[in-house]
Amino acid sequence: MTDTQSGRSCLAIVLAAGEGTRMKSARPKVLHEVAGRSMLGHVLAAVAQAGASHVVVVIGPDRPDVAAEAAARLPGADIVVQRERRGTAHAVLSARHALAEGYDDVIVAFADTPLVQAATFSSLRGALVQGATVAGLGFEARDPSGYGRFVMAGEVLEAIVEHKDASEAERAIRLCNAGLMALDGRRALALLEAIGSDNAQSEFYLTDAVAVARAQQLPTAALIAPESEVQGINDRIQLAAVEAEFQRRKRLAVMAAGATLVAPETVFFSHDTQIGRDVLIEPNVVFGPGVSIADGAVIHAFSHLEGAEVGPQATVGPYGRLRPGAKLGPKAKVGNFVEIKAADIGAGAKVSHLTYIGDASIGTEANIGAGTITCNYDGFAKAKTTIGNGAFVGSNSSLVAPVTIGEGAYVGSGSVITKDVAADSLAVARGRQVAKEGWATRFRAAAKARKDAAKKP
Ligand code: UD1
Ligand code: CA
Repeated sequence: MTDTQSGRSCLAIVLAAGEGTRMKSARPKVLHEVAGRSMLGHVLAAVAQAGASHVVVVIGPDRPDVAAEAAARLPGADIVVQRERRGTAHAVLSARHALAEGYDDVIVAFADTPLVQAATFSSLRGALVQGATVAGLGFEARDPSGYGRFVMAGEVLEAIVEHKDASEAERAIRLCNAGLMALDGRRALALLEAIGSDNAQSEFYLTDAVAVARAQQLPTAALIAPESEVQGINDRIQLAAVEAEFQRRKRLAVMAAGATLVAPETVFFSHDTQIGRDVLIEPNVVFGPGVSIADGAVIHAFSHLEGAEVGPQATVGPYGRLRPGAKLGPKAKVGNFVEIKAADIGAGAKVSHLTYIGDASIGTEANIGAGTITCNYDGFAKAKTTIGNGAFVGSNSSLVAPVTIGEGAYVGSGSVITKDVAADSLAVARGRQVAKEGWATRFRAAAKARKDAAKKP
């Protein structure tokens, strides 16, 4: 129950019961993805990293898909259903059982605000350590309309007033409420239960926890975050804006860590992409989830990688495609228009042009000629191709799996290999060449004679 860093236990309540109608989607809003991970997944990762020892996810009724995503992303997360949407405080109170357990810190997060950093949740917890009963997170909004406003008396956060309930003077305030909040765990339940619904929307507002605390002379705190970090997602346009912000940050982080991006704005990362030092990434490269690139590797332009591991000083592309399970050893080369899936490419091996390698293992320093295809699927099952160290596969060969090419063996160009090839041997499996001397001369003469005869009247 206790966060090892601070010695304080922490409960995180993640609100994910929204309907998300403005997404105009069959999929629940919080399952839409930013950088290859659901919004909910981002928020769960952040609260876990901020030291939450218990996480409750509040979902809407009949949302097994949201429950499944929460369980997949954070096994051990507690999932509760908010039967009716009666406001953010009401949503938090659906985790009453957990609040009653008495944690030191309670943090509330919104599942549709996925860029909030773990460090920001930690700062909110820090305000509780400093003695605040409620800590709110504010930001200077470019356009404050619609947001709750921070009503400050000097340094003290006196209240948060929702836009719909705000006076003209309050609407002029630009310091807005990001929504997430931290509450003293020993008082949270009592504060939340004191909140009423006498307001413009007849909802129970979480934001009223501030005024309730102040009425009891309890200290509150206001922290400030950049708007870019706390922007929420209601529609697809905001989804794209958040994606763009994520990519902007990730590109900066990758470059700061020692990789060169020739045209950063054309490279797209996933939330978990790992890029080493002295990696060179040319323009127009897309990383799906689960990719790691070791030091000194080069990813040439227009490549697409997903679930792949690229070894030190290996090269990919231009126009390379690495699918899940592709693993390139040190200095391996995957060239243009080559697709690799579930295959190990040994150190220094070359697969340079126009090739499909799937369900395979290729030894060190092997050379795979242009147009080689591993025939790994018979319509029912996948089978494996094994190519030994230093083997040489001639261009335009089909390797019908399961099949093994021994170490140092040669495969003649254009072969269809259906049987294993012994080490250091040559296998040729194609029609023999037939030579007919003078055939072309005779053919042309006969054809011309026929054409001339047809022209005569
Ligand atoms: C909320 C804040 C507002 C802040 C804004 C920032 C309140 C009362 N207002 O307003 O001060 O400026 O966020 O974006 O908190 N939810 C539930 N169950 C409910 C209601 C909401 O789970 O019954 C969830 C939503 O799915 C969403 C979050 O709580 O993730 C915020 O709810 P929303 O209705 O969007 O609040 P706002 O009106 O935007
Ligand atoms: Ca909102």
